[in-house]
Amino acid sequence: MKNRLIVALDTDDGGEIDWITEDLKDTVSWVKIGFQAIATLGTEIFIRMHERKFQCFLDLKFHDIPNTVARDVGTMTEHGASMINMHASGGIEMMQAARKRANAAAKSAKKKTPILLGVTILTSMDEDRFQSNFGSERKITDQVVYLAEQAKEAGLDGVVASPLEIEPIRKACGDKFLIVTPGIRPTWSDVGDQRRFTTPSEAISMGADYIVVGRPIIKANDPLEAAERILDEMKGK
Ligand code: C5P
Repeated sequence: MKNRLIVALDTDDGGEIDWITEDLKDTVSWVKIGFQAIATLGTEIFIRMHERKFQCFLDLKFHDIPNTVARDVGTMTEHGASMINMHASGGIEMMQAARKRANAAAKSAKKKTPILLGVTILTSMDEDRFQSNFGSERKITDQVVYLAEQAKEAGLDGVVASPLEIEPIRKACGDKFLIVTPGIRPTWSDVGDQRRFTTPSEAISMGADYIVVGRPIIKANDPLEAAERILDEMKGK
């Protein structure tokens, strides 16, 4: 389970990132790096995380013209991101260009080819918000499955999606297609702004490959204890 928990370092406090990752380094394998962490530590964060043997999921949710996203993904592959995401709604051409550039960048930098993920519909959205924000009458699940199929067709390795959508995605995209699920809330933590969430053990039993947990760990009084508790829950203890 250690390899399936991704801790979201959603803070712009470099000192906090330092002590939390020092605390978690023997217990957790993956960290998720977003804008806040990059803004405070720059790409130096990859070096610091690699020193602590973490694999890095770069969560910048790219969404731009294919050439720009391909270059962004290529650059971050060279910096050592092992998992990178982009909005699947950016289109097949954008995702294909990213795939091609990531493969080439990894090869020339002699690094492992990164896992590329498409972001489907954010887990903070519920049905009403989705339909009003997108002016759509579609169900969220139908849109999520549609975007997952597009990501697969473009050669991406998987998607970021709510645990509640795992089953239809698996049906449409098969067992090898990775599903990374944020929107995880242990029963003992605050729900915050997440709307479509499950507990860690539910997400694993529903078939998530990786779960992303931010605030329940990094805002806990004791992040290491919180991470251990979540890992135990993932193991079904
Ligand atoms: O603090 P919390 O556990 O809610 O953090 C979840 C993380 O997953 C955040 O970094 C958020 O940006 C990210 N995320 C999400 N929903 C998505 C994609 C990413 O919550 N669909």
